[in-house]
Amino acid sequence: MSIKEKKPNPVETAVNEQKQVAARLISVYIMGKRYEVPEGFTIMKAMEYAGYKFIRGCGCRGGTCGACGTVYRKPGDYKIQVALACQKTVEPDMYIAQIPFFPANRASYEFSKLTSAPEEIFKLYPELFRCVACNACSKACPQGIEVMDAISALKRGDISEAARLSFECIQCGLCTSRCFGELAQYHIFQLARRIYGARVLPRAEHLADMVKAVSEGKYEAILEKLKNTKEDELKKLYQEREVEPVSAGEDWKPKDGKYLQEAR
Ligand code: FES
Repeated sequence: MSIKEKKPNPVETAVNEQKQVAARLISVYIMGKRYEVPEGFTIMKAMEYAGYKFIRGCGCRGGTCGACGTVYRKPGDYKIQVALACQKTVEPDMYIAQIPFFPANRASYEFSKLTSAPEEIFKLYPELFRCVACNACSKACPQGIEVMDAISALKRGDISEAARLSFECIQCGLCTSRCFGELAQYHIFQLARRIYGARVLPRAEHLADMVKAVSEGKYEAILEKLKNTKEDELKKLYQEREVEPVSAGEDWKPKDGKYLQEAR
């Protein structure tokens, strides 16, 4: 009788390797208490593994909602670092604390009454001029935004540049937590982007055309047809639809213009 040597299955090997990695525990300090957590876990997963339950301070788990601001320090380093708990992986002996909410100043305003004059932002957020250009805000930003440059742009009255530089802000507030000028950069930028979008950028004509077409009822027949379509058929239509590519330009149109034509 011959014994065949079993060939290693690459999928099984990868799964086993993953299990081994997950099984390796490291110690971290969460809110001052020591826990053993699996290496390779994000701070968020490690905290849950340690028994914490996120009621606040957790949203998308994908680095886009900004809800999970965290401060940490590594042993032997005096520096306090900041990160998003859902993105940063744990490191041995790190000290971790969550700051799920930061009570930053958010000005109240009636947006419809605001113009694109920078002075209106200055009036709502006079603390803008307390910025001493230390750049701690930029160093704290998990999105790599040049926060200080965006604040400097606003101080010069350049709303467009501030909106452009802060476009990827996820409102986590970590910049504010490190700012000793006490600025709420993320709220100030949000106002700048709103003003930029509503008062500076030209209106999107194609959007206005489409809104008009919808309100004139040009898509009613198609919608009615879809409403009366069986679920299986709807699923098939959805799965087989032509998806607009991420890199599509302004003039992209689906190859099959059937639905657009029907609306005319
Ligand atoms: S949970 Fe949304 S950014 Fe971390």
